[in-house]
Amino acid sequence: MLRLGVNIDHVATVRQARQTFEPDPVWAAVEADLGGADGITFHLREDRRHIQDRDAVLLAETVNAKLNMEMAMAAPIVRVAIQLKPDQVCLVPEKRQEVTTEGGLDVVKGKRTAREIVKKMHAAGIEVSMFIDPDVEQIKASADIGADSVELHTGTYANARSKRQSSRALRALEKGLIAGLEFDLDVHAGHGLTYHNVQPLVSMAGFSEFNIGHSIIARAMFVGLRQAVREMKELLVGMRLEA
Ligand code: PXP
Repeated sequence: MLRLGVNIDHVATVRQARQTFEPDPVWAAVEADLGGADGITFHLREDRRHIQDRDAVLLAETVNAKLNMEMAMAAPIVRVAIQLKPDQVCLVPEKRQEVTTEGGLDVVKGKRTAREIVKKMHAAGIEVSMFIDPDVEQIKASADIGADSVELHTGTYANARSKRQSSRALRALEKGLIAGLEFDLDVHAGHGLTYHNVQPLVSMAGFSEFNIGHSIIARAMFVGLRQAVREMKELLVGMRLEA
């Protein structure tokens, strides 16, 4: 099965630009659900630049689809996650200056902290995914600390400027996918995926979840969020059937 997780942070970004009440990411979650999203993803950043605590609480109360909370490995956020109890947390690196999550988490370096967080999340009944570059050492470290899944960072592929760069990035992702499955991990993918570039990854058949935000929200400005999600879902299901 292939799940589509819709990242709704971008809706909160528009709201925060005016420090107002609209558009509401909680409404966005409802629309995404009605469009066929299998999951809702949000990132509660330490600087609260888009999603606010109020959003996280309401999402946890109202979302019936798989709720995936992206978060840094920071103690205050760990406490919030344990209270909210999303279905899954995805541990990501976080830098204040970045526009969006730029690279994968260094699980090899942060192994001790990551292992402790996995233990706490599992005790609270929350699955843990690690957002990492498609690097075998990082995948192995994620398996070692007991993570349930890895989300392979697709940014290098999405930002490739030539066919050669794109093919190289795809080969790395395929290698990562195979390694993840060999380590008995669920393998997800995300970052920079669009209606136009997702096909080769769907065709690899093995990824179980795609987390997509910007491209869907961008299309939603013109066709509405429900329709934008429906179009992405149909695309993924159709491509997977053909693969
Ligand atoms: N997955 C992770 C871990 C992310 O940090 C992001 C960006 O917030 C996404 C997926 C979605 O990326 P995009 O908005 O480029 O689709």
